[in-house]
Amino acid sequence: MPVMGNPLCAAAFLAFVVISILVTLLISSLQLAGQKGYPPNGTINEEFASSSQRSALNYQLSERRKEIIPLLFSPDNEKRILWESGFSPQHRPSLKTNMDFSLWNEISDSLRRAHMDEMGCDSLVDVQSVEVLGSGYTKLVVKVVLPEDRSVALKLVNDQGNDMEKCLEDFKDARGCYELVSYKLRKEMVLLQRLQHPNVIKLKGHCAEDVGGRVDKGMGKITAILEQGSPLQMIQLLQSPWEDRFRVCLGLVRLLQFLSYSPLGSVALLDFQPRQFVMVLGELKLTDLDDASMDEPPCQTDADCTLQFPLKNFTLPCSAQGLCEGLNEKRNLYNAYRYFFTYLLPHQAPPGLAHLVNHIMNSTGELKADINQTLDAFERVLLLYKSGVHLDNVPPSIIRDYTVMRGMRTSGNVEYRCWPSYSHQGCVLAVHGAREAAFICNAHAQCTSFILTGQKTWTGHLLASFRSSFSHLVPDETSEVYLKKNKSPEPSAV
Ligand SMILES: Nc1ncnc2c1ncn2[C@@H]1O[C@H](COP(=O)(O)OP(=O)(O)OP(=O)(O)O)[C@@H](O)[C@H]1O
Ligand SMILES: *[C@@H]1O[C@H](CO)[C@@H](O)[C@H](O)[C@H]1NC(C)=O
Ligand SMILES: *[C@@H]1O[C@H](CO)[C@@H](O)[C@H](O)[C@H]1NC(C)=O
Ligand SMILES: *[C@@H]1O[C@H](CO)[C@@H](O)[C@H](O)[C@H]1NC(C)=O
Ligand SMILES: *[C@@H]1O[C@H](CO)[C@@H](O)[C@H](O)[C@H]1NC(C)=O
Repeated sequence: MPVMGNPLCAAAFLAFVVISILVTLLISSLQLAGQKGYPPNGTINEEFASSSQRSALNYQLSERRKEIIPLLFSPDNEKRILWESGFSPQHRPSLKTNMDFSLWNEISDSLRRAHMDEMGCDSLVDVQSVEVLGSGYTKLVVKVVLPEDRSVALKLVNDQGNDMEKCLEDFKDARGCYELVSYKLRKEMVLLQRLQHPNVIKLKGHCAEDVGGRVDKGMGKITAILEQGSPLQMIQLLQSPWEDRFRVCLGLVRLLQFLSYSPLGSVALLDFQPRQFVMVLGELKLTDLDDASMDEPPCQTDADCTLQFPLKNFTLPCSAQGLCEGLNEKRNLYNAYRYFFTYLLPHQAPPGLAHLVNHIMNSTGELKADINQTLDAFERVLLLYKSGVHLDNVPPSIIRDYTVMRGMRTSGNVEYRCWPSYSHQGCVLAVHGAREAAFICNAHAQCTSFILTGQKTWTGHLLASFRSSFSHLVPDETSEVYLKKNKSPEPSAV
């Protein structure tokens, strides 16, 4: 068997089988009882499918392929793309014959040229553990831990998902259905390559199981290897400090601005929901791209360009070219407003910035601003927040209420809690500087001192820890203690 010719391939293949088994075990343990049971070993195949089912499935397969080809070759700048990626123009006609083999080769080649093949099957040989991160209609995502504690997310076709289930019901062809559903994963991989952005999950590589020696090589099991994040927890995010919530919204707006002017044209996220995103070190990243669309809908009258949402409808002008121009951008922006901004943005915004935040809420909620203007407004809020301009009403003299001890921290603290604190035990807040911290300490009845730890948040704000009392001071190069003069009793050993 050619696949076993190379010991590395053999090892990778073996590792893949082990992962598949682990994943299957995990899934079956997660499976709810009473689900429709298809023979677990995939005995449904072509033999049971009627010829009309077969041709209907073939039709769908060719439709899915047709969706991917234009993503590999953008029509308006085809020459450039072909040239950049080193394709010979003669390559293209062969794709039009709809051969899986050449289509898959083009996908793999373009990933390789974009250096998105840093990891392959051989990277998955030595998997230390596997854990399910999430699943949806189409895909299953697992976390695998590799040697040296590196972890990645693997995206696979969800054999138990609705897409697969529906296809099996319609066509009764396990292999054909796997292929059909896997096109969504393949499309996503192409989009991850074409739409690289700090707020899009990074594709690190892929592993395609070689179906030893078969002509449909490349159509075996397929796994995308991705940067690992954690599923977006809206409830948790609602409880985090404003800075962190603003960061998520800003990341989303930067992403949407990029998508509006992307190399593929204006991209709409048709299935726009928090579960299509994950968090990586505090930054929002899009992970589910299979429902992205580059087409602006055709129209005859303005009425054809209506965006319908549960609480609001918008009607856009139909352009002279007969397209609802700008519809993709507006759809994304309003979804950002209704799923993210309304929950994350206004609440606890710094008082000095509240009017700007309200303006953003209003102009996005009514779609009065386009994405560029919205991004400008967000970047302005960030700049003002970083500069501390919004604290102009806090008098500099406020700091004179405090005795400063540099190179010290406190010990034997009596903590109190505040909200939304960076620490669950005590009161830790992000401040622009000592002046803002003093202002906050004055406003908290329990506060008699605070320390600036030297730790910074993503905006460069300092983390200040507020205390009701402490027992003594200890030397610490990195921190400063501020002790309230009038109110505080002498530090006493308790
Ligand atoms: N890189 C990742 N790191 C961590 N979790 C992830 C990652 N990618 C996806 N997930 C989780 O896996 C879930 C399923 O992934 P994905 O949304 O791509 O599948 P899907 O079948 O298209 O889902 P849906 O039915 O919601 O469209 C996501 O909701 C997300 O929580
Ligand atoms: C699948 O399971 C059936 C019984 O449920 C068995 O007869 C068949 O041999 C199995 N096929 C494979 C490929 O394991
Ligand atoms: C939006 O349009 C639909 C279809 O015309 C209509 O049924 C619905 O009531 C409208 N919703 C709002 C909030 O106007
Ligand atoms: C925007 O502001 C106008 C006028 O101040 C108000 O009537 C409208 O309800 C606001 N819309 C949103 C979505 O906040
Ligand atoms: C929006 O910004 C992009 C650059 O990021 C620019 O190319 C485009 O022309 C701008 N569009 C509008 C309507 O200002």
